[in-house]
Amino acid sequence: MTVDWSISFDEKIMPKDLPNAATVEDYIKFHKTSVKGYREFWAKLAGELDWFRKWDKVLDDSNPPFYKWFAGGELNASYLCLDRHVKTERKNKVAIIWEGEPMENGKPKEVRKLTYSDLYREVNRVAYMLKNKYGVGKGDVVGIYLPMIPELPIFMLAAARLGAMFCVVFSGFSADAIAERMNDAEAKILITADGAWRGGKVLDLKSIVDQALEKTKTVKSVVVVNRTNNKVSMKGGRDGTFEELMKGIPANAHVEPERVKSESPLYVLYTSGTTGKPKGQVHDVGGYMTLLHATMKWVFDIKDQDVYWCMADIGWVTGHSYIVFGPLMEGATEVMYEGLPVFPEQNRWASIIERYGVNIFYTSPTAIRGWIKGGEQWVKMHDTSTVRLMHSVGEPINPEAFRWLFKHVGRETVPFGSTWWMTETGGIMISHTPGLMMVPMKAGTNGLPIPGIDAEVVDESGKPQKASERGFLVIRNPWPGMPLTIFKDPDRYKEVYFSKFPNAFYAGDYAVRDPDGYFWVLGRADEVIKVAGHRLGTYELESALMQHKSVAESAVVGVPDDIKGEIPVAFVILRQGFKPSEELKAELKDTVRKAVGPVASLKDVIFVSKLPKTRSAKIMRRVVKAVAIGKPPGDTTTLDDEASVEEVKSAYAQLSGELEKGRKKP
Ligand code: WT7
Repeated sequence: MTVDWSISFDEKIMPKDLPNAATVEDYIKFHKTSVKGYREFWAKLAGELDWFRKWDKVLDDSNPPFYKWFAGGELNASYLCLDRHVKTERKNKVAIIWEGEPMENGKPKEVRKLTYSDLYREVNRVAYMLKNKYGVGKGDVVGIYLPMIPELPIFMLAAARLGAMFCVVFSGFSADAIAERMNDAEAKILITADGAWRGGKVLDLKSIVDQALEKTKTVKSVVVVNRTNNKVSMKGGRDGTFEELMKGIPANAHVEPERVKSESPLYVLYTSGTTGKPKGQVHDVGGYMTLLHATMKWVFDIKDQDVYWCMADIGWVTGHSYIVFGPLMEGATEVMYEGLPVFPEQNRWASIIERYGVNIFYTSPTAIRGWIKGGEQWVKMHDTSTVRLMHSVGEPINPEAFRWLFKHVGRETVPFGSTWWMTETGGIMISHTPGLMMVPMKAGTNGLPIPGIDAEVVDESGKPQKASERGFLVIRNPWPGMPLTIFKDPDRYKEVYFSKFPNAFYAGDYAVRDPDGYFWVLGRADEVIKVAGHRLGTYELESALMQHKSVAESAVVGVPDDIKGEIPVAFVILRQGFKPSEELKAELKDTVRKAVGPVASLKDVIFVSKLPKTRSAKIMRRVVKAVAIGKPPGDTTTLDDEASVEEVKSAYAQLSGELEKGRKKP
């Protein structure tokens, strides 16, 4: 946890002319009722979706913590996102405005606009192809390693249509990361592209996939979408180009959406945790879609005439929920942008807002901090006054970042919140709800839990923490959208989330509740590092380092970074026969990048001869981190290790001494 900025609990900012303005008291009163009768409350929202068959039971809680929402109900996520709309006047409404990264003469070179009918046709054709050429159906997993191009949501929706699960791997991940995920998910087919545009360069996705597939067992076929005209090698019998595969598939091909059970899996998405390999979070259909429906209305206040833009990558959960399933289910018009928001210049993102008249904007603290650094002149070049509502996600938002965007895009009048949630929760849990009731804002807060969500901050013993004191964030009641399990590892699911505190989901975050009841999530309480809002487990980075022949032991910790929030630093003990050097440092950094992917760039490698350990031989991460930051560890926080204050102090002194020595002789 690295948050170290001054926040004010007393500040109250009210957006102007908001019909849903409410007092905190009113909201809390309403919230209490929603939580008390949470089953009926969620059932009412679920009733607003189109079901093929209504559920038998709102919540099957016979085997906690494995809950089944709307058990016995049948529906299809692709049907909700497409078929429903093409039957109405929305059929010719633009669903996705896609903008490619390359520019020409000051304009985006490629813009694709897909109406709901276009999307419906494409998803049906792709589903037809997957079913007839590869036999994809219920029980299969479709792996997807694609950049931000329309084919990404199309393949996700096509898999969902067939009742198959999909597993998307972020296109910034390495071959090893793909292989690990494909093996665990037992994917039988992998969809990729010849390349991806990123910051003006072409990333060679196909050769990364080729390397990954040397280490996978289950993947028998690869579909390659042409994006960059990159020359790639195709393996006979395994690889096919998307173009070829789609030739001859009729324009009006129709695939009946599979009737899937509410409690059956929609997808598996891997996240980093404290220890061990990434965890495959499995999300259901009925509960998940219900939560997205509710949050699209309450949090984003989505209306038919709006243009909505979520800046995330679909490779992360934010994109799954709030680019693909949420907005499309609501029949929204949304922007999907392929590349870097600051390419070729700092103003790209603002030019996109202006070009399409974006009304609802979902962004991140890392992005905002980058723009602040670039200077406000870039945003002033554009008319962003169409924006009427904004939210941020991924990590705590520092008050400066909040104020900057609120001023330069929000005109100090629009609702602007920081939505707290995580891959596990499926959708937003703690947030302002301008579409329902808008309570005053405070720079840096997450606000109050959304209706139906019983969140709390507890102390080490699980009792509610006093106001203004730091504790652990938990969620008490089951909620629609919660994971079904960790893929193939139900015990681990129980252990990681439901063993620390009885009868509560443990989020792994530190948080404070202020005297008004607002939540302020401060950061991870475990060994997860948030780099630019992306979750990296220290274990993954340490295992990557171990791949290098010189490394005997290592500890990776996150240190604060002005732009990215946090950035990893490695402490490394070398094996006999290896000497610290700048070259070795560079090599180790490279090893990590190659093993995990470009998302994992070490800021620094510090060579030491010893790492501080507790009596049970656990690395004292708090001490390592304190040394990395250059600040002694506090006396009061003994939450995360078993060492005494004295031991911590002496370990700190020793490790900082080594660091000093190391700095003197480069
Ligand atoms: C972790 C989950 C949710 C989609 C993106 C991240 C941190 C997320 C906030 C926020 C403070 C936040 C937490 C959480 N986090 N949003 N608004 N304020 N912290 O999903 O990769 O699963 O990461 O992100 O630490 O536990 P994720």
